[in-house]
Amino acid sequence: MEAYFVDWLSLLARWLHLITGIAWIGASFYFIWLDNHLEPYQGENKRVYGELWSVHGGGFYHKQKYLLGPERIPETLHWFKWEAYWTWISGMLMLGIVYWWGASTMLIDRSVADLSSTSAIAISAGSLLAGWLIYDLLCRLIRNDAVLGAVIYLLLVAAAWGFQQVFSARAAYIHVGATIGTIMVASVFFIIIPGQRKMVEAIRAGQTPDPAPGLDGKRRSVHNNYFTLPVVLIMVSNHYPMTYGHPHAWLVLAVIGAAGVLVRHFFNLRHRGRIAPGYPLAALALLAALAVAIAPLRPAAPSGGAAEASAEKVTMQQVQAIISARCVSCHAAQPTQPGFAQPPGGVMLDSAERIQQQAGRIHQQAVLARVMPPGNLTGITDEERATLGRWLLQSSQGN
Ligand code: HEC
Repeated sequence: MEAYFVDWLSLLARWLHLITGIAWIGASFYFIWLDNHLEPYQGENKRVYGELWSVHGGGFYHKQKYLLGPERIPETLHWFKWEAYWTWISGMLMLGIVYWWGASTMLIDRSVADLSSTSAIAISAGSLLAGWLIYDLLCRLIRNDAVLGAVIYLLLVAAAWGFQQVFSARAAYIHVGATIGTIMVASVFFIIIPGQRKMVEAIRAGQTPDPAPGLDGKRRSVHNNYFTLPVVLIMVSNHYPMTYGHPHAWLVLAVIGAAGVLVRHFFNLRHRGRIAPGYPLAALALLAALAVAIAPLRPAAPSGGAAEASAEKVTMQQVQAIISARCVSCHAAQPTQPGFAQPPGGVMLDSAERIQQQAGRIHQQAVLARVMPPGNLTGITDEERATLGRWLLQSSQGN
């Protein structure tokens, strides 16, 4: 009953996270687009910096940007912050439900590091805090954004490597995402919004606002814009064990993340009228090279291997015995594993037909990427994985 209730909490948190994340990233894309398309203002008002016209939703919009604000603050002033805050709150809820509440299943992998739940959760929470403190310090120390970007990228790659040394494969990826997400929202909360508040207060007091907080906020919001593609990738990568389940998962993430940043950069340049197809092409080349580099090796079947494969024909009984012992406590209509109210991912492996049906996915998850069972909770052996692999090879050869 408890697990069922937690599933509902998880569903609602995930739903909320997706919606608020779309709203936040949508706004980030929109305002970066807006800024990059502003045209020089030709009119009288000295406070206006740039403007643009657009058409949408059955009407025309005329926007003007006042760098230091208008003379008087209008009665209704719209702020953009709650979509960011709620994205983080719902994300933390999910992290808490899936990886902290379920630490022994989802966060800890004893073959990686034999942590207690308490220390794993402490590392998890501590690293999010540390990520923000380090990022914020670097922003203050390094004023050149290209250098800063490179340093942050390398540190995040190092973090991905570090998480891979302490957490389960899936948790390692999610923690890179959660670290980036925390940096993004903390920038909104501690830098961008307070800076805007200062400007509003100065204008209300009839003073000319100091441009520094606005510029600093703008800088952080550009950083956030470059974080968006990698962070979304990390969220969806959870469904692709070829990424997070790879022995060098941190390197895989480094390559895909770099491709995301290149694509984002292309769009940001394009908004300003510069078409630089080299960036998306470089991204594509990176992804193609990665796809080749991490392609699963087909189990080699030269004469000896083939002879062995046919000599030791794996029977369905053998396969079913392994699956029953190692998988079915979770992957059944009614899981017996504590913390599971329904078969995870909707995958049920409790009959020969179902196993046959899911053969490809079993191969992917348990033989190639070796991410199932999570944290090897049920203690599957290498020999059993090899047997499953042989069975799949034999059935694909049709004998
Ligand atoms: C402790 C519980 C547990 C055990 C034991 C377990 N799994 Fe899983 N399995 C999960 C969870 C959790 C997911 C992820 C569902 C999701 O995507 O959120 C999953 C997902 C899967 C998926 C679907 C992945 C996808 O996204 O396509 C397959 C296939 C799978 N497991 C196979 C296996 C096999 C084969 C075994 C035994 C060798 C096994 N599992 C053992 C918990 C378990």
